[in-house]
Amino acid sequence: MILVTGGAGFIGSNFVLDWLTQSDEPVINLDVLTYAGNLENLTDLSGDPRHLFVHGDIGNFDLVAKLLADHKPHAVINFAAESHVDRSIHGPEDFIQTNIVGTFRLLEAVRAYWSNLEGESKGSFRFLHVSTDEVYGSLGKDDPAFRETNRYEPNSPYSASKAASDHLVRAYHHTYGLPVLTTNCSNNYGPYHFPEKLIPLVIHNALAGKPLPIYGDGQQIRDWLYVKDHCSAIRRVLEAGRVGETYNIGGWNEKPNLEVVHTLCTILDELSPRVDGKPYEEQITYVKDRPGHDRRYAIDASKIERELGWRPAETFDTGIRKTVRWYLDNQAWVSNVTSGTYRQWLDKNYEARA
Ligand code: NAD
Ligand code: TYD
Repeated sequence: MILVTGGAGFIGSNFVLDWLTQSDEPVINLDVLTYAGNLENLTDLSGDPRHLFVHGDIGNFDLVAKLLADHKPHAVINFAAESHVDRSIHGPEDFIQTNIVGTFRLLEAVRAYWSNLEGESKGSFRFLHVSTDEVYGSLGKDDPAFRETNRYEPNSPYSASKAASDHLVRAYHHTYGLPVLTTNCSNNYGPYHFPEKLIPLVIHNALAGKPLPIYGDGQQIRDWLYVKDHCSAIRRVLEAGRVGETYNIGGWNEKPNLEVVHTLCTILDELSPRVDGKPYEEQITYVKDRPGHDRRYAIDASKIERELGWRPAETFDTGIRKTVRWYLDNQAWVSNVTSGTYRQWLDKNYEARA
């Protein structure tokens, strides 16, 4: 049995779904269901006795302690977080609360549980913390990609809160001996990605005939990884990662945002052409930049390849095509997540950029 936190979000739900196709080992899925948590991501598992969903907060020490005592998982994988940079700029408080205080309380509950384990259960227990490349800050055009030894230089409230959580995880290993693993991954894309992030937002807006907003000059670079590849990397680190180590995970796919948006437009022109026959790229609109916008992220994923033999299975071309197809085939999912409070977010984020 494993305990996954944040398993109703984008990456967490992909992880839980993949885990249960590869293994019969049950999953307890603890998620507080913020705007980003969606049980619809997990409908394929309804009635599956291997999946136990628990509605709750990683910051609730008593709840986590009880779950650990009742189910005795051999690993905890922490995905739960506030994850959107733009939201962290509008309202950092939730990021401090979940990403820092929540991770701290989760670590406390896990430490208490792990301290009382004995023998093999104690030796094989793992706490895997899922983090981001954004903790390393921004790269210049010619800088080498982020390695695990890079200094932490977070620039947004989101990345600062994730950096703080990484430091807590590290400290729990050095101080208390908790057997931790940390992964720092680049930008993910794929099924169940909430359409506040660039790729699903552009697909959604394109099909809805709305503007495709490019922040600033669109030349900011991200290193894109198909979400299923992130999931396989996490499974591999859990299985064979060295305790106390951090592993950078990336797709070797650096792309400027504008190129990503053009690629999406081209695929949509082919798979779901506009009724007026015009190209989707006519909807591209340049808007005011994000404050403190990091210029470039790039991951050097050679450590995980060298030590654990992991490499991504998808190229950007194969992964992005699968992603567009998924969104076209799952319009009901998109309609459900883009109702209600989603619209308020769009007003807040994009009105001031016009
Ligand atoms: P997401 O926002 O889609 O999902 C986060 C999930 O955590 C949601 O289901 C939410 O309900 C849940 N959650 C939030 N606060 C909680 C709390 N206090 N207690 C319990 N559950 C809570 O995020 P994501 O994109 O799936 O990211 C998952 C993790 O991966 C995060 O830690 C993020 O920092 C990290 N990460 C994301 C990316 C990316 O490109 N999306 C890249 C690298 C790392
Ligand atoms: P995002 O998906 O929010 O991920 P992150 O900020 O964690 O990298 O954004 C990816 C890139 O796309 C980032 O450089 C900001 C940019 N972006 C836009 O240009 N327009 C948008 O509407 C959004 C949401 C993002």
